[in-house]
Amino acid sequence: MGKLGEGYAEVEAFIADAHRILEEHGGPNEAAFEAIGRRMQPLAKRTDLEDLRDGAPLPGNWIYSEPDGLTLMLSTFPTTTAVHTHGAWGVMVGYKGTERYRQWVREDDGSVPGKATLRLLRDIEVKPGDFGWWYPPPSDIHQQVPDEGGVLELILMGNPPTPHRLYFNPDAGTYEEGEYATRHYKQ
Ligand SMILES: [Fe+2]
Repeated sequence: MGKLGEGYAEVEAFIADAHRILEEHGGPNEAAFEAIGRRMQPLAKRTDLEDLRDGAPLPGNWIYSEPDGLTLMLSTFPTTTAVHTHGAWGVMVGYKGTERYRQWVREDDGSVPGKATLRLLRDIEVKPGDFGWWYPPPSDIHQQVPDEGGVLELILMGNPPTPHRLYFNPDAGTYEEGEYATRHYKQ
């Protein structure tokens, strides 16, 4: 991998540790996410993450991905996102910029299409080096509210994100299906 070799070795070591942490904690749960976040912090101190992302032979913002498994990405959020899902759990660490980060859990049983009852679980500030997470589906629900100028974040997901996402209006108790390109930044 040429000049990127050392960085990718550190990424692979992180992925191996993430698997170990998940096994130790019995799967993707609160304790595992906390431990993965702490393990991601030194990786998020690297100054070459954009080079690693741009040099990876993978789609878009991905740095590393297992088939149907752990996927590491460096994502830009230029402005406030909709309240959305990914079809995957995730742990994120701030890399550049500051945001409000909101995480919800879903409390209805999913039996009524288009309706959802959400409970706001966390509303925190995420600066470079701070971390947060969202749960596996159906509670993989979150929103980024970046300061002016946007943010860049290192994100580990449990599997590659699904093309169709759910987009929620928590106050109205509703959701709709949508695609990233047309829906992600529409409130
Ligand atoms: Fe997201």
